[in-house]
Amino acid sequence: MQKKITIAIDGFAACGKSTLAKSLAQELHYTFIDSGAMYRAIAFYCLENHLIDHSGEIQLDHLEKHLDNIQIEMSPEQKIYLNKQDITDAIRTPRVANVVSQVASIKTVRSKLVEIQRQMGANGGIVMDGRDIGTVVFPNAELKIFVTASAEVRTQRRLAELMAKGERTDTRSVQQNLLQRDHLDSTRKESPLAQASDAIVLDTSNLNREEQLAWALEKVQRLL
Ligand code: DC
Repeated sequence: MQKKITIAIDGFAACGKSTLAKSLAQELHYTFIDSGAMYRAIAFYCLENHLIDHSGEIQLDHLEKHLDNIQIEMSPEQKIYLNKQDITDAIRTPRVANVVSQVASIKTVRSKLVEIQRQMGANGGIVMDGRDIGTVVFPNAELKIFVTASAEVRTQRRLAELMAKGERTDTRSVQQNLLQRDHLDSTRKESPLAQASDAIVLDTSNLNREEQLAWALEKVQRLL
């Protein structure tokens, strides 16, 4: 049997990480995990339980008390459940995007999610995308890809995604959210977004999905 490797895909918001990770996993018959969805699930929990006040401050002691009661499950069909409630669509809204980086900067939140992520990948055969997968979650991953794309391309892609879902938003606020999240994610104290020293960079600005997949598959084939 061909060996099953671990593939870590990191990068900035909306540069195509999840799309690439998903199609790569499909092609290889691996498990795909979108770790960002897990941070979004906790952000959603905070919003629903009024743990974020009007000034955007998170009630840390409350959240930490609740953390053990938060159960996150992901199905092979990419549905995500928070304490059995299907929140797949609810976590993709600007409301969640606006607070998720702040939630993801909390050490106890990260420890909880990193533990779950490592369990999910314990047997290899996984493609996980996020911000700290190659640096913290799977530092020994056989293949690490760091995805980038210009801010303009990322904004247009995310805008198209949101519009297709009927969200009312505009170029300026989408770009602002992406840049603000990139800043918070790269400058936070706990596991900031960073390129692992052994990661290969993929700039998706001028590549379509098929070209990105072909590029990644070629890297995998070299390893297998
Ligand atoms: O990939 P995404 O945009 O859905 O991620 C949502 C947020 O979660 C993002 O702003 C940063 C955070 N995140 C993180 O800190 N670590 C990860 N492994 C994945 C996401």
